[in-house]
Amino acid sequence: MCIRRFKPQDSVRVSEIAVQGVVDDELLSNRSKKWLKKNEFSNSYLGKSKKFEIFVFEENHKIQGLVGLDKNEIRCLYVAREKRLQGIGAQLLSFIENQAKKKGYQKTFTYSAYSAQDFYKKHGYSQVAIKFNQKAGFYTVEMGKELNDS
Ligand SMILES: CC(C)(COP(=O)(O)OP(=O)(O)OC[C@H]1O[C@@H](n2cnc3c(N)ncnc32)[C@H](O)[C@@H]1OP(=O)(O)O)[C@@H](O)C(=O)NCCC(=O)NCCS
Repeated sequence: MCIRRFKPQDSVRVSEIAVQGVVDDELLSNRSKKWLKKNEFSNSYLGKSKKFEIFVFEENHKIQGLVGLDKNEIRCLYVAREKRLQGIGAQLLSFIENQAKKKGYQKTFTYSAYSAQDFYKKHGYSQVAIKFNQKAGFYTVEMGKELNDS
């Protein structure tokens, strides 16, 4: 397995994994899922990769997870449905925190889905704020971590 930089040809698989994350979130309404899916199409990942760094977790030549870093904001952490709860999310999170450290950041933060906040708490994050996304109609939880504490 390896964690490597996103390539344009990864777009379709990466988008598939992100959509699974949205579809499987039992706390999201259908309206919110529809909005999120519309914004998770493959070419939008190509577009995103031009705005911030995206890395993928690859195992046996298949992408099974992704994570992004936009300055010190952790973006789009998703693990493929059939590969969740096997430690991939924790590896991606630790990898991206190290990337942020290398860039000189002392803190990271993310806007977590309500359903994923306990995952971040397990990895040393605490709640900073709860925000309502007007366009999509759902709440996200801003979670932050001091990197020097880890
Ligand atoms: C949330 C997610 C990224 C976690 O990745 P993962 O590979 O399944 O998690 P790991 O196997 O590395 O789990 C690490 C620990 O977090 C816990 N955990 C994982 N997902 C959790 C969740 N949703 N809520 C609470 N705890 C969770 C695991 O039980 C494990 O605990 P342990 O160390 O005590 O055994 C993944 O489940 C996912 O993609 N979910 C759907 C999309 C999503 O919610 N993404 C978050 C972006 S906002």
